[in-house]
Amino acid sequence: MGDATTNGRPESLPDLDEAGLLLDVDGAVATVTLNRPERRNAMTFATWRGLAAIGRSLPPAVRVVVVRGAGPSFSAGIDLGMFSGEGGGLPDGSDAEAADRFIAELQEGYTWLRRPDLVTVAAVHGHAIGAGFQLALSCDIRVVADDATFCMLEPALGLVPDLTGTKPLVEIVGIGRALELCLTARKVPAEEAARIGLAETVVPRDGLDGAVRGLVKDLLAVDAGAAVATKRLLWQAAGNTLEQQSAAERREQLGRLRDLNAR
Ligand code: CAA
Repeated sequence: MGDATTNGRPESLPDLDEAGLLLDVDGAVATVTLNRPERRNAMTFATWRGLAAIGRSLPPAVRVVVVRGAGPSFSAGIDLGMFSGEGGGLPDGSDAEAADRFIAELQEGYTWLRRPDLVTVAAVHGHAIGAGFQLALSCDIRVVADDATFCMLEPALGLVPDLTGTKPLVEIVGIGRALELCLTARKVPAEEAARIGLAETVVPRDGLDGAVRGLVKDLLAVDAGAAVATKRLLWQAAGNTLEQQSAAERREQLGRLRDLNAR
């Protein structure tokens, strides 16, 4: 995929350099690169606010978002400096409402990746640890290099995964495996990730960019309106009864039929 640039960057973004991010918008494809390779793309509060700002300011023409990491790792998770007060430090929990607001704001860096108008692809290589693993879990599809390992390290640090990763983790691997992975904080290699559904595809490390380019091309070849409606439908399937989901299918199909007729 090459190095991302700020070509096409929308106006209202904060300083992405400071956030350790690069954004390249090229027509229907936005590439977000975690860009602190010397820190293995460890993420700060500024990174998560930057991600949220990117989500808010993407041009409407963007249909696919690729999230990748520069250098040897996808992401080593939270910048450990945040624990010692850098970036304002973590809340101590004495003000419950303020702590709740603080975490909710950081979660916004992740939740926009589920928007139905976007298909989001994590290109994972090297390490995806803690907050980095959760970022990959926030994307719709994970394309994974054979050198990648995933690790949910939070419980080992006395914390819980709180960047919206627990729901997709349980939905993908099931409660037993999710418990085992989180409560041992063990590393999951790429081959196992594919077997348990964490990776849609595993490719050789030097084939990662090419595999992502091919996937993006295939995603863009599908009708845009149908892609949005289908993503909306698939994401609600797990929480719906069969009756609710059948009704949702009928509603979405009505919209599709109207749209096709109006062309
Ligand atoms: N925060 C800050 N700096 C980090 C970092 C992190 N999470 N991870 C790596 N770095 C820094 C290292 O300190 C090192 O800096 P120096 O060159 O100044 O010594 C540099 O990045 C390179 O690191 P390594 O030499 O260790 O690189 P490696 O390729 O051999 O290993 C790694 C990579 C396996 C990711 C290893 O660096 C590592 O284990 N990092 C710590 C991971 C971690 O504990 N993350 C927190 C997870 S919990 C979370 O994310 C969620 C939460 O909210 C709590």
